[in-house]
Amino acid sequence: VAALPEGYTIRPLQRADFGLGFLDVLRVLTHVGDVPQEEFEKRFDEMKASGGGYHVLVILDGEQKIVGTGALIVERKFIHQLGKVGHIEDIAVAKDQQGKKLGLRIIQALDYVAENTGCYKTILDCSEANEGFYVKCGFKRAGLEMAHYY
Ligand code: ACO
Repeated sequence: VAALPEGYTIRPLQRADFGLGFLDVLRVLTHVGDVPQEEFEKRFDEMKASGGGYHVLVILDGEQKIVGTGALIVERKFIHQLGKVGHIEDIAVAKDQQGKKLGLRIIQALDYVAENTGCYKTILDCSEANEGFYVKCGFKRAGLEMAHYY
């Protein structure tokens, strides 16, 4: 398991994290929009209330600023003897913090959660440009993504 740089910590996202730059980190990944604090908190509460399927992790630097994040969603199935599948989503490391193995550390932590919540596999979608990163994290190419946007 990769070590975090000195002073950095990793932990689950907290309701009070709005002010620590959580949404700004996600902006390196995609469009986030204008999300007020109370809407962030409402979504946080919905995730908590949904029965434990959401595991959002954050990495904080020495100044307690959020510099990385990633999520694992545990999907419950009827197949595979009522199996569970982990879905890795929304991995992002602040631009000026990339290349310090923070992304790798997030994936390792999410993988650990997946294995310990009984998932038989973890899957994710990514661009070709990120394939090398996920290969370094132990993933391999499998299948093809399809999408229907509304
Ligand atoms: N292609 C090939 N190798 C890569 C890439 C890449 N795009 N990015 C990192 N690596 C390698 C690193 O060189 C390193 O290799 P090493 O162990 O031989 O030194 C290894 O992968 C681990 O890299 P990290 O330092 O942990 O990567 P970083 O912290 O920079 O995070 C990430 C990588 C998350 C892709 C980051 O660049 C980022 O936030 N990008 C923008 C947002 C994004 O694209 N997120 C992923 C979307 S897919 C999803 O969310 C499921």
